[in-house]
Amino acid sequence: MSIADFNPAAEVRGDTLYFDGVSAIELAKRYGTPLYVVSETTVRRRCAAIRSAFLDKYPNTAAVYASKAFQTLDMCRIVTEEGLGLDVVSGGELYAALKAGVAPAKIIFHGNAKSADELDYAVRSDVGRIVSDNLFEIAELERLGALYGKKVRVLYRVTPGVDSHTHRFISTGSLDSKFGIPLDPSVRDDYMRAVLDASHLDFRGFHFHIGSQLHDNFSHLAALRIILKLVADVASAYGYAAPELNLGGGFGVRYLPGDPALDPGYFVDPMMELIRSSCGEAGIPMPLVTIEPGRWIIGEAGITLYTVRSVKTIPGIRTYVGVDGGMTDNIRPALYEAKYHALLANKAGEAEAAPGGAPSGSPVASAAAGAAAALVTVVGKCCETGDVLIRDIALPDPRPGDTLAVFSTGAYNHSMASNYNRIPRPAVVLTRAGTHRLSVRRETYEDLVAREV
Ligand SMILES: Cc1ncc(COP(=O)(O)O)c(C=O)c1O
Repeated sequence: MSIADFNPAAEVRGDTLYFDGVSAIELAKRYGTPLYVVSETTVRRRCAAIRSAFLDKYPNTAAVYASKAFQTLDMCRIVTEEGLGLDVVSGGELYAALKAGVAPAKIIFHGNAKSADELDYAVRSDVGRIVSDNLFEIAELERLGALYGKKVRVLYRVTPGVDSHTHRFISTGSLDSKFGIPLDPSVRDDYMRAVLDASHLDFRGFHFHIGSQLHDNFSHLAALRIILKLVADVASAYGYAAPELNLGGGFGVRYLPGDPALDPGYFVDPMMELIRSSCGEAGIPMPLVTIEPGRWIIGEAGITLYTVRSVKTIPGIRTYVGVDGGMTDNIRPALYEAKYHALLANKAGEAEAAPGGAPSGSPVASAAAGAAAALVTVVGKCCETGDVLIRDIALPDPRPGDTLAVFSTGAYNHSMASNYNRIPRPAVVLTRAGTHRLSVRRETYEDLVAREV
């Protein structure tokens, strides 16, 4: 598999990796490393794919981008220009969305422990929907609705009790979860009465999100069957046919060359069919159906560029390649053993030259490229042994000064970045068909102490 087959925005010219038509080496020189590079072209293509596979294909549908995956003002503007709404999960994400000019009606506000201030901010801002999962919040929203003379549009996040096939830290749909309302009949009535009897709440329906980075649709379908039964039960018990159904996100992306490339249709087509048949059987109208993809839109649109700073071989054990970033810009490997693919952007021709164009990281590549592409372990610069970005990847003779490009870092990297060890967070550069521009500047040392009083 060539690198372009793995990621359509990537291409090798000579020995140099190009991303979205821009030389990765030029970007590293111009903006410094570590550097988040985001292909606006890919983001817009992914939004277009959501439109054609879902919004244009099925009437009465909506798609909101789960901005926790990667939220910048530019990103908010790009996805809304492309016809998506925005899912936010904190006052800070709401603030940025509004600052970017996102229409409040297009915003869905999530969170399992929203503060009173956040609820007040969301109601005052007239966000489109607030997704609630506890009775304290329902009481508070009713109070705020009365205070501001508004009807607050509310959905319930429910826990379908489905274990999704993903890392347990990003699995959210099982019964033992901090997210969502359990469907146990002993508690269901309290929740339903609270929201249906409230005079300042407009209950719109149910939401579920079962987990992230899913490579099969079984868990989505299993959860949906359970929620559709709930919708039918609520319709018969309370005479209320919920007009909306929110299916969450979770569509998986490619981190490694062996991962499947899944279209949104793989997830949404069978779900739409199930909703249609179930509503038909229950004699209730088709609801407005919303999806909330985050990772699927931004994950493969991003790469991170690092400079190799050290190469250390421990005879008979392993070779450590130390780069100038690490768990501060990408916590995912340390947090849930996430795997990544990478290559040396200034020696990219060598990985491509391996028979079959096998990307580094595969045993084929290491065998083909011989000693020059031995397996190494890429580590960050933080004072944590667990600061390992990639374990056992074949890189051709890495040397200090080389530029390492790590793929599929668009989602949950920048948004989860920290300042551990007082490391400034990297800049974000947007590329678009051969052009590039700074979107978020690199943090400075001054930024690091700016909040101290
Ligand atoms: C409620 C909700 N919706 C959508 C998403 C987006 O998930 P993904 O990025 O896997 O599509 C998440 C992620 O945690 C979520 O909690």
